[in-house]
Amino acid sequence: MRKAIIGLAVAAVALTACKTQSTQKPPEAEIKKGYLVYKNNCSACHWETVSPEKMRKLRQYVREHGRPPFGAPPMSEVSARVKKFYPTEEEFVAFVKDYITNPSREKGVCLPRAYKIFGVMPAVGKNMSDEAKEAVAKWLYYRFDMTWEEFMKKHPH
Ligand code: HEC
Repeated sequence: MRKAIIGLAVAAVALTACKTQSTQKPPEAEIKKGYLVYKNNCSACHWETVSPEKMRKLRQYVREHGRPPFGAPPMSEVSARVKKFYPTEEEFVAFVKDYITNPSREKGVCLPRAYKIFGVMPAVGKNMSDEAKEAVAKWLYYRFDMTWEEFMKKHPH
């Protein structure tokens, strides 16, 4: 009996250790730094997010003006879309750092419509430090948690 209890306790510790390791987020300070990089380098084109209500209004705007009032898909959408193809933090961060430095239609994973409306993103990462690119990519990964399917259900377009 005693052995069984010890066994259970060991298993519980092992499970908890595993859990903290696999969901290890970067420190809050790094995420904050990534947000500042976003504000300074990305927000002119990418809105941070769009509420479902706002999205309905935007559809009307697009009908009238032929395109939305911003230059790129919102980051909440970009994050969900890129995670569909690059689900782990490691793959995601590597993809984003490379894409913003050397973007191309072939590499991109956005909906075909995005390139038609906005064109391919300019290489804004060319003038950014590796550190800044890493921070903004991590911010983009951790700031949003919807899957692509959830995003499209809430924001049909
Ligand atoms: C001048 C406008 C502009 C700026 C500034 C900009 N982007 Fe973009 N971005 C776009 C457009 C347009 C697209 C959609 C077409 C595409 O993917 O190339 C896009 C798409 C993306 C994608 C999806 C790539 C794909 O196609 O799979 C990522 C990731 C991204 N941007 C990250 C960033 C980050 C991070 C920054 C800031 C460091 C940034 N962008 C700044 C215009 C911009």
